[in-house]
Amino acid sequence: MKTLKVDLGQRSYDIFFGHRFFAEFGRLCQKLKLGGRAIVVTNSTIGGHYLRPLKESLENEGFIVSSIEIPEGEEHKNIRTLEYIYDSLVSAHLDRGSFLVALGGGVIGDITGFAAATYLRGISYIQVPTSLLAQVDSSVGGKTGINHEKGKNLIGAFYQPRMVFIDVSTLDTLPEREFISGLAEVVKYGVVYDGELFTFISDNAESLLARDKKSLMYAVNRSCEIKASVVTRDEREAGLRAILNYGHTIGHAVESLTDYKTYLHGEAISIGMVQAARISEKMGYSVKADTDRIISLLTRLKLPVELPSFSSESYINAIMHDKKVKDGKITFVLNNGIGAYSLVNIADVGALIKA
Ligand SMILES: NC(=O)c1ccc[n+]([C@@H]2O[C@H](COP(=O)([O-])OP(=O)(O)OC[C@H]3O[C@@H](n4cnc5c(N)ncnc54)[C@H](O)[C@@H]3O)[C@@H](O)[C@H]2O)c1
Ligand SMILES: [Zn+2]
Repeated sequence: MKTLKVDLGQRSYDIFFGHRFFAEFGRLCQKLKLGGRAIVVTNSTIGGHYLRPLKESLENEGFIVSSIEIPEGEEHKNIRTLEYIYDSLVSAHLDRGSFLVALGGGVIGDITGFAAATYLRGISYIQVPTSLLAQVDSSVGGKTGINHEKGKNLIGAFYQPRMVFIDVSTLDTLPEREFISGLAEVVKYGVVYDGELFTFISDNAESLLARDKKSLMYAVNRSCEIKASVVTRDEREAGLRAILNYGHTIGHAVESLTDYKTYLHGEAISIGMVQAARISEKMGYSVKADTDRIISLLTRLKLPVELPSFSSESYINAIMHDKKVKDGKITFVLNNGIGAYSLVNIADVGALIKA
């Protein structure tokens, strides 16, 4: 088992990494001196695989455990599901000393975190991420929330978990496409922050694709170190946290132009990263060999790299609607070679995409 501390003063917490170590979960919760009752939020697929060992581990430490099953899928990360969670917490007479456990991917992590942030003005919660995206990105950093019918993640709160428990063995049951999509975020950390991680992914692409535990432990642990180091310096996204958005400006445009139906998030980010790499090269921050290495790695990981054909006007429109655009100006994250970033203000992204 490995441990990483996310240092946020009074809101600090540990991330535990391991494989096949659910039996340890209850003991780690006990150490946090949490109240006697736990409610696990999950869905039927993930719960079917992991609810029993999680519950047993908690019960062995004397916790009283119940669970809430929410429907599967991003379309359920909404106010109705949240209301259902609140109703369950109220009916169970859950008090302030109790805690929630988010057992699932980013959807479950985000909505459970937001329920915890708001129920009785805030109760403790623990992240047990089971998708690769959730293990390397969404479970760390305390962004919680739900979608509104007019846009994704429009309602939410910054609210840190008390612990993140990452068992990379849970990735064994993750569908292949979801797994590969999650790898795009790992590549992202390598491209803008850590050339060594990029090289590691290149050298171990096949073993990562085969979900080799040793390679996964390294990739997931290093990704969390990077995310933790960024969020501890910029908890509420005032500046630095923007670098985690590498590939996301154009990636989000791709997602929205295709109505979120054609690409999984990481697939769209892969396409966005290729565009960001090309823009970096055009602006002199990197050279063609860097762009080629990025494209070649994404291709080896079976991620898409081609920009779907929409007019540049459509792209500009989609980009300008992104909630990260302020006063029509975009702070674009570029790769400085491989392993470093530059934040650059770009007025005419459309022209860059077209050129
Ligand atoms: N809070 C943040 O900082 C942050 C960052 C990035 C993304 N997000 C959010 O995360 C969400 C996407 O997360 P995601 O990609 O994990 O999607 P998801 O939660 O929908 O999970 C993807 C699919 O995989 C299934 N699944 C998850 N783990 C599994 C396992 N171990 N075995 C079998 N099936 C499993 C889920 O049931 C689901 O069908 C989005 O809502 C996004 O907004 C949040
Ligand atoms: Zn992302």
